[in-house]
Amino acid sequence: MPALQIENLCKTYGDRTRALQGVSLTVAAGEFFGLLGPNGAGKTTLIGILCGLVRPGSGRVQVFDADLATQSARARSYLGVVPQEFNFSIFEQVQQIVVNQAGYYGIPRKEALERSATYLQQLGLWDKRKTQARHLSGGMKRRLMIARALVHQPRILILDEPTAGVDIELRRSMWDFLIKLNQSGTTIILTTHYLEEAEQLCRQLAIIDQGQLIHQGAVKSMLAMLDVESFVLDLGVMPARLPSLPGFVVRQAGESSLEVDLPREQSINELMRQLDAAGIVVQSMRNRSNRLEELFLRLTAGANGAPLVPADSGALS
Ligand SMILES: Nc1ncnc2c1ncn2[C@@H]1O[C@H](COP(=O)(O)OP(=O)(O)OP(=O)(O)O)[C@@H](O)[C@H]1O
Ligand SMILES: [Mg+2]
Repeated sequence: MPALQIENLCKTYGDRTRALQGVSLTVAAGEFFGLLGPNGAGKTTLIGILCGLVRPGSGRVQVFDADLATQSARARSYLGVVPQEFNFSIFEQVQQIVVNQAGYYGIPRKEALERSATYLQQLGLWDKRKTQARHLSGGMKRRLMIARALVHQPRILILDEPTAGVDIELRRSMWDFLIKLNQSGTTIILTTHYLEEAEQLCRQLAIIDQGQLIHQGAVKSMLAMLDVESFVLDLGVMPARLPSLPGFVVRQAGESSLEVDLPREQSINELMRQLDAAGIVVQSMRNRSNRLEELFLRLTAGANGAPLVPADSGALS
């Protein structure tokens, strides 16, 4: 039985924004699933529908054996949600916030205290248990929301951009925590703007754009589409002629910069060796765009006729 089955979900807001335009999606039980898409794609709207904050226009959602519309209490008991925006009372104490949440699910107080202690310890917040939430840092607030989402031990944990604005060290420890949680059997769905994050954590990805699912498939097969990476090289002095570098496509990108396409099988070392041989001095080098943007460009280019879908990928909708 899948953990989550979404069929033809539509949502139009009062101002006629068509946030979801018929999204269908299946998430297998035990999956670590990434939902990617640019700002305004509809990710938070989708999650809002799952946790009951947004009323769907049409469509159907099944969470394990429960229909979200007709068996909503059971469906929601399977779900723990960490929203994009902080939504706890900032004047309450940390542990109290987690214990109160357990109350909504009818968990006895003694049990709630024990569970809250476990999760606060695991998430490095135990020392802060008596602190008012408003005195926590942004990263701590994010972890508090994770503890709160887990207190009823949901079978699916949904996180809406859990690591936005979280420093790299904390991000890694959060990743470790989520990986362990997933290994212990919890299905995890997260939205992110970082392909690196999706790459580290997720096995399956769905990409939505303008309220539509544009691609779903295994992370590996999606990354295989990024067969070329483009770099911008800032040069001190532009050579009189565009250099010819065998194996690389070179374009002039600005007054004193070049753009180079690096095929997957080529190394940066080889590029540097050739630049050196051509007497070109590189002052700095950066990716032209982040890899998620690159993947995006490729997927949306599909609308213009280029074949994009790798053999083992899921259906386009
Ligand atoms: N309460 C609302 N009322 C009207 N329009 C809304 C509301 N919430 C979201 N929208 C619109 O719906 C669309 C989808 O927004 P949503 O927040 O779901 O996107 P998102 O993928 O989560 O974006 P982000 O990556 O920026 O968080 C956007 O055009 C947004 O302006
Ligand atoms: Mg969002």
